[in-house]
Amino acid sequence: MAPTTRWKSKDLIGIDPLGEDDIGMVFREADRFLPALSRAGGLSLLKGHTVVNLFLEPSTRTRTAFDISAKRLGAEVVSIDTSASSLVKGETLRDTALNIEALKADAIVLRHSSAGAAAYLARQVGISVINAGDGAHEHPTQALLDAYTLRRRFGKVAGLKVTILGDILFSRVARSNILCLGKLGAEVTVAGPATLVPERLAEAFPGVRIERDLRKALARADAVMLLRIQHERQTTTHFPSLGEYTSQFGLNAARAAWLKPGAVIMHPGPINRGVEVESDLADGPRSVILDQVSHGVAVRMAVLNLCMGASRR
Ligand code: CP
Repeated sequence: MAPTTRWKSKDLIGIDPLGEDDIGMVFREADRFLPALSRAGGLSLLKGHTVVNLFLEPSTRTRTAFDISAKRLGAEVVSIDTSASSLVKGETLRDTALNIEALKADAIVLRHSSAGAAAYLARQVGISVINAGDGAHEHPTQALLDAYTLRRRFGKVAGLKVTILGDILFSRVARSNILCLGKLGAEVTVAGPATLVPERLAEAFPGVRIERDLRKALARADAVMLLRIQHERQTTTHFPSLGEYTSQFGLNAARAAWLKPGAVIMHPGPINRGVEVESDLADGPRSVILDQVSHGVAVRMAVLNLCMGASRR
């Protein structure tokens, strides 16, 4: 099952360099892989290949999804426990990656707290580097799986109205989603505390609407994407307390009543239940949160197959 069209890069560093065609290629590949989601060892496209998970920040969904995706494609997976690796003895990221390449691995999936870490590493090694989140910069596979989920739910992404609510300033998920949804023709609105949704975002993302009226932001949405507060990236407090954030911006039953009848609730996870969203809504009929997680496997199978296929050429 070879990719249907040519994928240009051995790496996936961000959404920014991708065109609409590239995103479409990922979606077509994901469509082909979706039926194989629950069949371990079902495909052998990456048989004989090794994928190394190198996560220097915590992760449940992304790391597990890459692990499962690679195995579904027949690859072997090695997940490095970075707290027990030679990184703690002072080995550089570059030396770590060069050694992984010398061990004849074929791809590194990297999560790192520094923006630009994946791009830097991709220049150092000849094997594929997939960005699994770099600081507040990008989380490209999250945005691809989010857009893929919208496409499966609504049949298209173009013309959809998507409201991203919460900590936009420090969120790599928001940044990648704004880029991805914009390239696919969705209308993106951002909302949240003014300190986390500053006016200068309009300069960085010209097509994005900043909406200060939460009711309007929710009422126009076909999908509302909730974000957690990224405490780990904030060097100062941006609102008085979590309770005050929840009272002003948390999605509760009263605010969910402002949504259109067919609107869906999304969240990249991890969810802080009772903070950015009430549990009943996260688990309710509008929620596509676990669909996002499932689709993440098909999308990451697509990304691994495309990038590692380009690396072999
Ligand atoms: N959405 C996401 O990146 O989740 P994890 O941090 O658990 O990987």
